[in-house]
Amino acid sequence: MQCKMSKKNLDWANIGFSYMVADKRFVSNYKDGKWDDGVITEDNMIVLSEDAGVLHYAQECFEGLKAYETEDGKIVIFRPDLNAKRMVDSATRLEMPAFPEDKFIEAVEKVVQANLDWVPPYGSGATLYIRPVMFATGNVIGVKPADEYQFRIFVTPVGPYFKGGAKPIVVKISDFDRAAPHGTGNIKAGLNYAMSLHPIVKAHEEGFAENVYLDAESRTYIEETGGANIIFVTKEGGLVVPKSHTDSILPSITRRSIVYVAKEILGLNVEERPVKLSEVENFVEMGLCGTAAVISPVGKINDHGKEICFASGMEEMGPVTKKLYDTLTGIQMGRIEAPEGWIHTI
Ligand code: PLP
Ligand code: COI
Repeated sequence: MQCKMSKKNLDWANIGFSYMVADKRFVSNYKDGKWDDGVITEDNMIVLSEDAGVLHYAQECFEGLKAYETEDGKIVIFRPDLNAKRMVDSATRLEMPAFPEDKFIEAVEKVVQANLDWVPPYGSGATLYIRPVMFATGNVIGVKPADEYQFRIFVTPVGPYFKGGAKPIVVKISDFDRAAPHGTGNIKAGLNYAMSLHPIVKAHEEGFAENVYLDAESRTYIEETGGANIIFVTKEGGLVVPKSHTDSILPSITRRSIVYVAKEILGLNVEERPVKLSEVENFVEMGLCGTAAVISPVGKINDHGKEICFASGMEEMGPVTKKLYDTLTGIQMGRIEAPEGWIHTI
């Protein structure tokens, strides 16, 4: 479908990463053992029982994906099937009823279709962030899963996640842990983010853009940040991606896409393996990757006062990160042919 010309009157190039109330959202409720068909509604408010499971035992999970306007004026979504699948995994781990993957994709399409005027124009630097969320609405007082849930998808136009856009950021090694070994780090549950709020407020107060979390078991290996996975580049120009032997890193769709782009399109050597903090000084580039972060270059890590500075410096992205960034965003914006199944046109 071609993009309508009646876009909202927003300063697209200067919007930040925050919530705007767009026109429409999708809502489906789970009751008596099944999901209803769902509706598109204008109501952005939720009325809950004081005893709703989400309020007490944090039965909640969510997703994040984006819609883009391409160079030729189409509206596309990037790999929604992987978000649908990850949300099933999150729900299953939290004893919530899975929202069917095909229905998830249909609902994403409906919401984007209902909010076309909110899709930022091609070339503005902004995109339409899509936030599916599922939570327990049913009453619980003993610790157990609820029997009623809501699944909702809303959208909001967003600009860069980190201030300064593609400027390298400085991150710190956190003294806090994000996820327990074999816990819930590998699913997209709100509870993981609650854990990271105090550390991120502290990190921001100290002047850092993000926290790098180590593995909670040995505090030796690099895991990820509060809102993105991590990539490194070796002196030889290869890609190294931290892997957790305790399954506590979120399986980022952006990171999986970058690994494919690096191997299959750019022909880079790729290693997915545990990465020790002590070896990070050997890398020449570092980036944070995610739907929100896209690929944000890191110029420096602060490890308790000791600075690890990457050769790429504090002015711009390193050359390999740039190639990955250009290829990934080129695919998302329709400038580069996408691998089969990656781009879903509305
Ligand atoms: N890790 C965390 C903790 C995140 O919140 C996100 C964001 O979704 C990611 C990684 C990146 O995942 P994705 O690329 O699927 O957005
Ligand atoms: C995303 O990238 O979609 C996320 O959920 C990360 C969040 C920190 C905004």
